[in-house]
Amino acid sequence: MQKNILVTGGAGFIGSHVVRRLIQNYPDYNIINFDALTYAGNLENVKDIEHAPNYTFIKGDICDANAVQQALETHQINTIVHLAAESHVDRSITDPLAFVRTNVMGTATLLHAAKQFWNGNFNDKLFYHVSTDEVYGSLGETGFFYEDTAYDPRSPYSASKAGSDHMVMAFYHTYHMPIVISNCSNNYGPNHFPEKLIPLSINNIINKKQLPIYGKGENVRDWLYVIDHAAAIDLILHKGKIGETYNIGGHNEWTNIDLIKLLCKQMDEKLGNAAGTSEQLITFVTDRAGHDLRYAIDATKLKDELGWIPSVTFEEGLSKTIDWYLNNSEWLQKVTSGDYIKYYEAYYKGSSKNL
Ligand code: NAD
Ligand code: DAU
Repeated sequence: MQKNILVTGGAGFIGSHVVRRLIQNYPDYNIINFDALTYAGNLENVKDIEHAPNYTFIKGDICDANAVQQALETHQINTIVHLAAESHVDRSITDPLAFVRTNVMGTATLLHAAKQFWNGNFNDKLFYHVSTDEVYGSLGETGFFYEDTAYDPRSPYSASKAGSDHMVMAFYHTYHMPIVISNCSNNYGPNHFPEKLIPLSINNIINKKQLPIYGKGENVRDWLYVIDHAAAIDLILHKGKIGETYNIGGHNEWTNIDLIKLLCKQMDEKLGNAAGTSEQLITFVTDRAGHDLRYAIDATKLKDELGWIPSVTFEEGLSKTIDWYLNNSEWLQKVTSGDYIKYYEAYYKGSSKNL
């Protein structure tokens, strides 16, 4: 069966790695990258594969029903891998409605358009929704998120992603649309937009700027190399069971402060700095409102049923990530000019964080 896959958000961080993997591993598939190119979308992320014969880019908004419908029809789409979203928690605190629009309304628009286009013939069709572990809420010092953990989102971002997950499940139960959902922990790696903790800190160390750590740096995240996430998505796309959810995570928990200290150490070594140089940049700032204490995924289902495990240790993945940023200074400079400066100044130097 010929697969014509619409990947939404394929110019973003994770989406670009998914697009590249699908293009390279499945030359007989047609991959259509549908992305609105918001501040987080960047065609430089997919520059190396833009001339691949099985690749098409469409600039489009998932909230625009006509644009979505046209893309589905023109390319006879039978598979959707949906990553397009507003993805940054801090921005969701400032502008929650933008997250409701894209993540809830956009996902509903996409589902509805697929239902119309597939018109009840769901043979060999799939709507794959990429979601987050944040829908499960916040853990205490122990325990894990399982696929059947009750949803308990606490930020406008996670609430909007939970809303999108519910809408996907509703289309499964109500219309029998073939869907699959994965909920992944924190990703890191090449092409990560430098508003998120790891790339923001790499950029600030390069520029000898302060490293803003929220609160006491005690919050815990479970970090996964983005290329391992793309591999998991590939596996679930091909082998996942319809109607199921799969958790994806690295079994790799770090407090923010320990993570940043490791990052500082690795960067000092690579930059030829004296030991301890970058740690001096660490600055504790006002905490994020409603800051979830800890995320930790149990990915046993994915391991036992589909055989997925992460391929790199955190130390290896972090080292590769730093190397990528040091070798791609032009990419970093481009995305940290213009609007990024305004965002950074308003968020960190304005009243919000007291940096
Ligand atoms: P990102 O912000 O880097 O990229 C999002 C992409 O979506 C961008 O290319 C942007 O242009 C596009 N987009 C935004 N609004 C759009 C719209 N209305 N129509 C079409 N395109 C639009 O995000 P990311 O970190 O790559 O996350 C991708 C997906 O994975 C999201 O759904 C996110 O919730 C999920 N996720 C992310 C992480 C993580 O750690 N980054 C972890 C788990 C799940
Ligand atoms: O868990 C998956 C989620 O991970 C994804 O769904 C989100 O799209 C993604 O952005 C990420 O959310 P987080 O809020 O965990 O990631 P972020 O990089 O923004 O923050 C990681 C931790 O670092 C968090 O505890 C907040 C803290 N932090 C973040 C920034 C940007 C700081 O201490 N200082 C900072 O400047």
